[in-house]
Amino acid sequence: MLDWDDKPGTAAQPTATPAPQPAAPRAQPHPAVVERAVSGTEVAGATGLEDLQMGARRIQVDDKKIINCRADLNQLVPFKYKWAWDKYLSACNNHWMPQEIGMSADIATWQDPNGLTEDERTIIKRSLGFFSTADSLVANNLVLAVYRHLTNPECRQYLLRQAFEEALHTHAYQYIIESLGLDEAEVFNMYREIPSIHDKAAWSLQFTQSLSDPDFHTGTPEADRRLLRDLIAFYVVFEGIFFYVGFVQLLSFGRRNKMMGASEQIQYIMRDESMHMNFGIDVINQIKLENPHLWTADFQEEIKRMLMEATELEIQYAHDTMPRGVLGLNAHQFNDYLKFICNRRCSQIGLAQIYPGAENPFPWMSEVMDLKKEKNFFETRVTEYQTGGALSWD
Ligand SMILES: [Fe+2]
Ligand SMILES: [Fe+2]
Repeated sequence: MLDWDDKPGTAAQPTATPAPQPAAPRAQPHPAVVERAVSGTEVAGATGLEDLQMGARRIQVDDKKIINCRADLNQLVPFKYKWAWDKYLSACNNHWMPQEIGMSADIATWQDPNGLTEDERTIIKRSLGFFSTADSLVANNLVLAVYRHLTNPECRQYLLRQAFEEALHTHAYQYIIESLGLDEAEVFNMYREIPSIHDKAAWSLQFTQSLSDPDFHTGTPEADRRLLRDLIAFYVVFEGIFFYVGFVQLLSFGRRNKMMGASEQIQYIMRDESMHMNFGIDVINQIKLENPHLWTADFQEEIKRMLMEATELEIQYAHDTMPRGVLGLNAHQFNDYLKFICNRRCSQIGLAQIYPGAENPFPWMSEVMDLKKEKNFFETRVTEYQTGGALSWD
């Protein structure tokens, strides 16, 4: 049941389109949609809320575009981006709930004065401090910033599923925090109180604020590049780099038979995140394919600088959370690991590697990522779904 795919070369499979879009940014409205002008602004794409025109021509697959689409956005089919629909189906097949994972052994370990070292406790608290607000930032970015600008129903279908999964992740962190009896205020305020956590969260905010501005519209090369850059910031950096020190750290507990419940939660979260990132990479590559004029040499340099800056922030986070070696890990290993991860992200979006030769000091992470987990999650869960029993009305 636990099934994911983050192997190089599998993510970027954009759908070929008949012809790249010319530099002229604005397409004509589809006749099924009556344009609703926004005063004083150029409306580049449909929103899905336009008035309907009775008897208009039916949607054809070639009417669909990933950004700046003028056609009706409320018709899921005909599919143009089958990869988005397939990811939606895979995500539904991977459904899980945090409370289905037993935490009693973790609670006993946490309460035992000799159960964990102080450094191990620090790692758990810092990881929860970062993740508990990070998934909320990602969810807000999806529903308040990204959704409006991706003008394709099958991609939006996946975004809706992803948004729910981000809620599950925040739920999972809260479930761990509550189970262990941690100081909730301390954990949830870490992104305003611990510099290395703050720096990552603050870095990401600059890449969601402009897209969430009601006056921001795609449809010019500058605005479309802004969207592309902000998608890379969230899907490639935030979900594809900033989560990885925490993933390695928390999975290292499980590898040593400690905090197995928390470690299992992280495995399921990492599987979800891997698919989120791969979806984002497919979207990014599809936008590039349909709008090749956006991917200029200058813009590629800007993206490379952004990836280097983010890699340095994550290396700093590794050093701050691990002042000493712990769980067989040390901060210096993460210098190599994060450069290795950054190279992989570069390849996935069609950039040359920034750190040639960087090697992976944690080959077991690839094994976890490639794992087709034998056990069926639904045979080992500790609670039952209550959908049927909870349904009642008068
Ligand atoms: Fe998440
Ligand atoms: Fe995510």
